[in-house]
Amino acid sequence: MIKPKPHLTKLSPYPPGKTEEEVRRELGITGKIYKMNSNENPLGPSRAVIGAIQKAASQVHRYPEASYIELKKAIAQRHGISEKQVIVGNGSDEVLEFVFKAFLEPEDCIVISSPSFLMYEKFAEIYNVGVEKVPLSQDFRHNLSKIKKLLLSRAKVAFFDHPHNPTGTVLSKKEWREFFNGLSEDVLVVIDEAYGDFVEDKDVPVAEEFFEYFPSLLVIKTFSKSLGLAGLRLGYGIASKEIATALEKVRQPFNVNLLAVKAGLAVFEDKQYIEKSKRLVFEGRAYLSKELQKLGFKVLPSQANFVMVDFGENAEKIYQALLKKGILIRPLSAYGFKTWFRISIGLPEENRYLIEVVSSLL
Ligand SMILES: Cc1ncc(COP(=O)(O)O)c(C=O)c1O
Repeated sequence: MIKPKPHLTKLSPYPPGKTEEEVRRELGITGKIYKMNSNENPLGPSRAVIGAIQKAASQVHRYPEASYIELKKAIAQRHGISEKQVIVGNGSDEVLEFVFKAFLEPEDCIVISSPSFLMYEKFAEIYNVGVEKVPLSQDFRHNLSKIKKLLLSRAKVAFFDHPHNPTGTVLSKKEWREFFNGLSEDVLVVIDEAYGDFVEDKDVPVAEEFFEYFPSLLVIKTFSKSLGLAGLRLGYGIASKEIATALEKVRQPFNVNLLAVKAGLAVFEDKQYIEKSKRLVFEGRAYLSKELQKLGFKVLPSQANFVMVDFGENAEKIYQALLKKGILIRPLSAYGFKTWFRISIGLPEENRYLIEVVSSLL
């Protein structure tokens, strides 16, 4: 029988958060499900998006325009850059994959924090690229100095989820400036800002601001979180024209589907929805952090649409009790944090219900 490439034998698939249907099937829950395990937008899609998809439905027998120029222009305008600096992907996951396709050979190595978003390592395994893992520092943040050392010696690309997943932590402008100072432009730094829209701290750089520090950079953004399009799969990267051109070479002609293009354009116009999504996270994050701390749990300071909490010795009991009530949160034992959980910010009533259930157990 045909054999897969030898380096793929040890590869395990990405463990996604459970969907509502899976949970109903597996646990027999018939009531409401509170989905706080995958960092999605709890508001549902923008109305403008639903209208745009309905309008575009009659056109799905046509291919989308392969250059994606209209979408790229809208993205470029959002960031005050040229459309030649934009690359679009079928989810930001695909933009991450372009980095492996365009820049990394099997003898190369990347550097990532441990833990961090699992797909960096998965892609490295798929493309047979080496991985250096740097543990987070004591305060659960990227250890920039150790990562820099590796970039100055043997790593070709560094991937940073910033805000970091699953902790929600960030680094200041001063820390980033120091990190970039003295780095060679022969390396690439990828700043994955899946949660960048939820950064409230003005001392933290976001998106195009990173280019003030270093040119050999790719900033990755997604439509899956603040923009509420996770199910459509749409993401993008912004970089110098040279880097964007290299990434563009490995992109399939129709990698983003027609409905995603129309929905992406529509949600950019719906400023009210975007503001509401962010406000919901700012308020819900402050509420959940405060209430969980009041109950005696350690909660990490988050700038993302989730909080990471240590339920300590009652972890399993609390997790099971929440599940029974239909509240899904993400256990972090796979990340090496046995008693910790990642809780996505929900609607105000969902956040309140979670706190009520946890309080009732103590
Ligand atoms: C840090 C990070 N990067 C990228 C992604 C992938 O997002 P997308 O839905 O755009 O593929 C996620 C998804 O949760 C994430 O947490």
